[in-house]
Amino acid sequence: MANPHDSSPVDPAADTTHKLWGGRFASGPHPLLDAVNRSIGTDFRLWPHDVRLSKAWARALGRAGVLSASDVDAIVEGLSRVADRLAAGATPIDTDEDIHTMIDRLLHEEAGAPASRLHTGRSRNDQVATATRLWTIAACEQLNLALVDLQSALLQQAEALQDAVLPAYTHLQRAQPVSGAHWLLAHFWPLHRDRQRLVSATRGTSVMPLGSGAIAGSAFPIDRHALREDLGFEHISYNSIDATGDRDFVAETVFVCAMTAAHCSRLAEDMIVYGSSEFGFVKFGDQFSTGSSMMPQKRNPDVFELARGSGARVLGDLVSMLATIKGLPSGYSKDLQDDKRAMFNAVDLLLLVLPAMAGAVAELRFDTKRMREAVTGGMMATDLADYLVRKGATFREAHGVVGRLVREAEQAGVELNELSLQQVRNAHPLLGEDAMEALGVDASMAVRNVAGGTGKEAVATQLKQAHASLRS
Ligand code: ARG
Repeated sequence: MANPHDSSPVDPAADTTHKLWGGRFASGPHPLLDAVNRSIGTDFRLWPHDVRLSKAWARALGRAGVLSASDVDAIVEGLSRVADRLAAGATPIDTDEDIHTMIDRLLHEEAGAPASRLHTGRSRNDQVATATRLWTIAACEQLNLALVDLQSALLQQAEALQDAVLPAYTHLQRAQPVSGAHWLLAHFWPLHRDRQRLVSATRGTSVMPLGSGAIAGSAFPIDRHALREDLGFEHISYNSIDATGDRDFVAETVFVCAMTAAHCSRLAEDMIVYGSSEFGFVKFGDQFSTGSSMMPQKRNPDVFELARGSGARVLGDLVSMLATIKGLPSGYSKDLQDDKRAMFNAVDLLLLVLPAMAGAVAELRFDTKRMREAVTGGMMATDLADYLVRKGATFREAHGVVGRLVREAEQAGVELNELSLQQVRNAHPLLGEDAMEALGVDASMAVRNVAGGTGKEAVATQLKQAHASLRS
């Protein structure tokens, strides 16, 4: 048996096309196969992670006694030069099927014969799964930072709106008055949950497939725990069949993206509606508004509309990812090559949308006068019912009494709080001299200091909680 530490003077793998496979075929692949098979247009961006895991793999082969120390050095140093070339803009040639093939080709140019030993005991199946996981972990961190920026913009605006009042809507019908800060923070917490989901997605992603080979595990005595430590993964996979065919981490990450995009679309929708002339609560700033090619007066909230629209695109990525996984046999199938297309689309889109949203939110100017004017007397009907409950009525009875008063006001063409005290008091013996006070906007908010409510102290606490969540 040949000594595996010998560097052979001729490198049989170094043919001109530099395919990682092909020996068993009499002829080369049809150009149409190449066209449909080629993924480098998508996976090129994996290169820093592929270089990193390849260096770690070389070191693991060295520790296992498969590679000599000098071959490990030649490969690791060669890979550093490959990384330099890629960073400097090296571009693929026609025969570079994917980024793994391209890096292998460049490594042969840089390191010569030892490069032919790197792929010992590994497959592109465990390689691509590992590189994609490394990419995903970095992407989750970027998404987290982008979310924090959007949350910070919301929080800053919320702080300025603590004393502002606007209607809160259910069914998009005026419901009850709330503080402006309370409304804006209602868009802050969903993003907080998205960040928590990113933490969970990262944990699920931090499992190393490398060492699984094509499907049955590497035939060389690799210390996968040392390799895991070298690459910074939290765990190693339990099963090589599962590890090479598992794309749960991609589906999970794209789900977080889809959920985040859905949250952005709801925030966007509030701004679009509240920014219409009919509402007039908010004005869009110059830097994040667009005009019309025809109507000179227009100021359009395009960023928010694009954010709303991007929800559909990311949802499409999630559906396509789940559909790809569904029904696949165990182990790797080439369908899985499209995991990256779905995930890169989703992450790229969010990394465009989130910063643009943060900029647009920071530029919003609120018309607190219009907001307050939209709070009408009828919206405090619940407060009048609560007043009756405090005086001893049941809520059911109180609801009926106030309902009749609402009808009376409607028939008279006035708001509930525009009825005379006498008219109100006639409705029920428990309605006293102070009944009209229950119909005040500030009174309505002041009694809602329950944790998570719109009362002043509750909102102040919530703002503190929001700040604390951004520090964690
Ligand atoms: N470009 C491929 C992918 O992204 C690499 C894995 C190829 N494996 C294989 N058995 N052909 O999935």
